[in-house]
Amino acid sequence: MQTAVNAQRTFASDNNAGAHPRVLAALADVNVGHVPGYGDDPHTASAERAFRALLGDDAHVFFAFNGTGANVIALAAALRPHQAVICAAYAHLNVDECGAFERFAGGKLLDLPVTNGKLTPADVRGALHGIGDPHHVQPAAISISQSTELGTVYTLAELRALGDVAREHGLFFHLDGARLANAAAALGTDLGAMLAETGVDACTFGGTKNGMLFGEAVVFPRPHPAVEIMPYARKSGMQLASKMRFVAAQFEALLHDGLWLENAARANAMARRLAGRVAAIPGVRIAYPVEANGVFAVLPQHAIAPLQAVRRFYVWDESASIVRWMCSFDTTEDDVDSFADAVAREVAR
Ligand SMILES: Cc1ncc(COP(=O)(O)O)c(C=O)c1O
Repeated sequence: MQTAVNAQRTFASDNNAGAHPRVLAALADVNVGHVPGYGDDPHTASAERAFRALLGDDAHVFFAFNGTGANVIALAAALRPHQAVICAAYAHLNVDECGAFERFAGGKLLDLPVTNGKLTPADVRGALHGIGDPHHVQPAAISISQSTELGTVYTLAELRALGDVAREHGLFFHLDGARLANAAAALGTDLGAMLAETGVDACTFGGTKNGMLFGEAVVFPRPHPAVEIMPYARKSGMQLASKMRFVAAQFEALLHDGLWLENAARANAMARRLAGRVAAIPGVRIAYPVEANGVFAVLPQHAIAPLQAVRRFYVWDESASIVRWMCSFDTTEDDVDSFADAVAREVAR
């Protein structure tokens, strides 16, 4: 049997972690006999029920393979090609999805400079121009990430304010929740309060960064005309799994007994611990508020490469010397403490 190339846990990304043992066990449990494909199976029905138990009976759920696909099909189901999505310049949708939205949905992203990764109602209002002018794309949606790419979390009040501006201007309110669980754990709120009550129309519920092997869910917390389009958007968007039971079973395991929140809370706690330790080191500065499972720190240049050799991580902003450390559901106190010791050592060198 081949052994792992590198069994060490890193701070590179929460998708560098493996899968939670209960998720793997759930896969083995459903690996019995034959069931219909494409979601017409009892495991998919059961996972959908688990989502409705969290989000209310009006919720619709569509399982997908990955986060890029989940973002794109949700937006494609709601928009026409002459329409545009207002988002933060940092949005994964904008900078890390290789133009998938533009290619597949045909619309345009209106990406705005923002503070701490968060879009505000004023940003949205400022982008609403050219309405009714056929020479301009028509802003028709906002997309935010919760938690954000900078490790910050929109408060319920901030979400409500965005929901209000979306309703006021008839904009589809999309939320990229690749790290939704981390935001829910950080806010200590239930998902109904974070989604349906703030006016979110569709969101990704991320599984991959929360302990699954792969798989995301597109969730519509309330009835919306785009729900009718979603089955077609998902299939033509190449996100319909034929062996759907294996995506569904992973979500069942995550939602069972609150494993999703437990995993997220652990990752968040490790990020807080790491931030607390490194913030006390002279020469290190925390770049953005640490509210979920990511820590962004300004480090002296000389310390970065030696620290990357200790545990892998990414440089986020080369010119500002900002690095990104992501914690996962399986990050341990020892991982954090030994790395923080290394930071102190290398920064002082
Ligand atoms: C904010 C955000 N959205 C979406 C994704 C989904 O990416 P993928 O298509 O790799 O699953 C990621 C992954 O890094 C992310 O950080």
